[in-house]
Amino acid sequence: MKIARTFLKQHMLWVGFVAVIIPLLCILALQYWSLLKLEKTSSVADKVWMKNYLSDVATEVKYFYKGNVEQALNIPAYAITGELLEKGKSPFGACEVKGVKRLFVSAFDRTGEWKTYFYDPSCKTYQCTQIASEARAINVASASFKMMGQEKTVVRMSGFTVDDRDPENRIVMKPILDESSKIAGVAGFIIDVDYLKQEFLPQVINTSLPVKFPDQTQDNVIVRVYDARHNVVYATKPGKGQGEETMTGLPIVTDVYVAIQSRTMTPEQWARWNFTVNLSLSILMTTVLIGGIVLALRTASRELKVSQMKTDFVSNVSHELRTPLSSVRVFGEFLRLGRVSEPEKIREYGQYIETESRRLTQLINNILDFSKIESGRKTYQFERADVGEVIADTLKTLEVQLKQNGFQIIFEAPDSPLPPAVIDADAVAQAFMNLLDNAVKYSASAKEINVRLDQEEGFICLSVTDHGIGIPREEQEKIFDKFYRVSTGLVHDVKGSGLGLALVKHIVEAHHGKVTVTSEPGRGSSFTIHLPAAKITGEDAKSQGTNNVAKSGPPLVLGYKDS
Ligand SMILES: Nc1ncnc2c1ncn2[C@@H]1O[C@H](COP(=O)(O)OP(=O)(O)O)[C@@H](O)[C@H]1O
Ligand SMILES: [Mg+2]
Repeated sequence: MKIARTFLKQHMLWVGFVAVIIPLLCILALQYWSLLKLEKTSSVADKVWMKNYLSDVATEVKYFYKGNVEQALNIPAYAITGELLEKGKSPFGACEVKGVKRLFVSAFDRTGEWKTYFYDPSCKTYQCTQIASEARAINVASASFKMMGQEKTVVRMSGFTVDDRDPENRIVMKPILDESSKIAGVAGFIIDVDYLKQEFLPQVINTSLPVKFPDQTQDNVIVRVYDARHNVVYATKPGKGQGEETMTGLPIVTDVYVAIQSRTMTPEQWARWNFTVNLSLSILMTTVLIGGIVLALRTASRELKVSQMKTDFVSNVSHELRTPLSSVRVFGEFLRLGRVSEPEKIREYGQYIETESRRLTQLINNILDFSKIESGRKTYQFERADVGEVIADTLKTLEVQLKQNGFQIIFEAPDSPLPPAVIDADAVAQAFMNLLDNAVKYSASAKEINVRLDQEEGFICLSVTDHGIGIPREEQEKIFDKFYRVSTGLVHDVKGSGLGLALVKHIVEAHHGKVTVTSEPGRGSSFTIHLPAAKITGEDAKSQGTNNVAKSGPPLVLGYKDS
């Protein structure tokens, strides 16, 4: 229980992260699954919907011809007696029959011969002359009825029959029965297929489309009518359409087809598009959310680290302040009480007090500058100056301290004079002092430090190289962060504020320069400050001969290890 609680406490951020991520991924998986289902069902639903529409059209066609039969072919036997027919009297009613090429009656005449009489569907009294092909088709179609009539068979049918053996003359007919249910004749019509294709179907399609596909969705489909040779005889919209066409043959006129097709995107394409868009949005949202969480976690963990580093900083700084202060106090007391009389010792104590005070000043300066940087109040006084001179002056002030610690500084400058730079001399000196201070602190037993001035592609390069403990590769970027201190190996024993390099970086960047490090653990480190050089003016050229430190000759050796 306790272990679990400490684990939770230590890994709070990760636990929170996992607690958010798992439900999120579950939601995403669920959405993927439901979208997949939706894609399948919606595409099937759309297909079914289109098929439904076509079957509606087919039903309309069927009812149309059924209506024609009801309207025209219910003829009583007494209206087709041979006498009446021969007189040219039409047995059909007075109304016009649409979609019909010819109306006809086949019946036995007074001599008992099976004869066919033709009528115009719009002009009921007019008896047409026979057309051979039509008469042939009617003879073929009505042969069985004729036979049943001759044999006086009792017929029990009330519907109509369709004969399409001659595709040019499709015949719909109905037997005319006398009172004893025997066949007296046959009434029928020849279907006007052109009317069906060119008038009836377009009208049916155009009235039923908005009903089946409301809210302008009818614009997204094309309905076509095909003839027997698969030529388009009518289309609601021009163009090709997308995807597969759903097609159905019509009843009665079985070689005419109606087909429907998506105009813009097929139902499958729509479903896929819908699926992709929805899923992408979900993935995007989840990614953004995860990104946000990761960012928040990173910030939180960084804050935690910084607050830990701040705590370390306070203890380190108090230590750094207390140690030299107590020595200064002790040496001061010695001097005040006159405990030391030899002038050599007095000078040594005095020097110690001076060195330690300088160190304290540098530490306090670092802290003050850092606080100014943090609050955005740090300002720089840029002036044209000679970097070499600034470095040489700084080295001179540190000479004693370095000598005391037994350090040997090898200062190298190029043969040719360095160009001037626009710098804040105090800030550059402070940056250099910090690098030198680090070189001293992290040198361990190696007591040689190289300071090198050089110029390279418009930059003045100042490098401080030690042969000390070095810095692991993975730490080399982090050491420039505020409060950051390498917490492995030898560094543990050396006290520091963790502000020096952060300050160096800030100063150098304020000069539009950069600071780089190369280091190998156990072999030493080399920090280089690159400062942009200023353009040389006439005055610089004159003064360069006289006051530039960068003179040719052997390296300048500042300190010697006294043994
Ligand atoms: N010359 C060097 N050799 C080895 N490590 C160094 C060197 N300079 C800096 N470092 C590492 O970088 C860290 C940060 O340096 P700095 O910001 O000056 O802080 P401080 O010196 O107060 O610890 C140091 O704690 C040390 O671990
Ligand atoms: Mg330092």
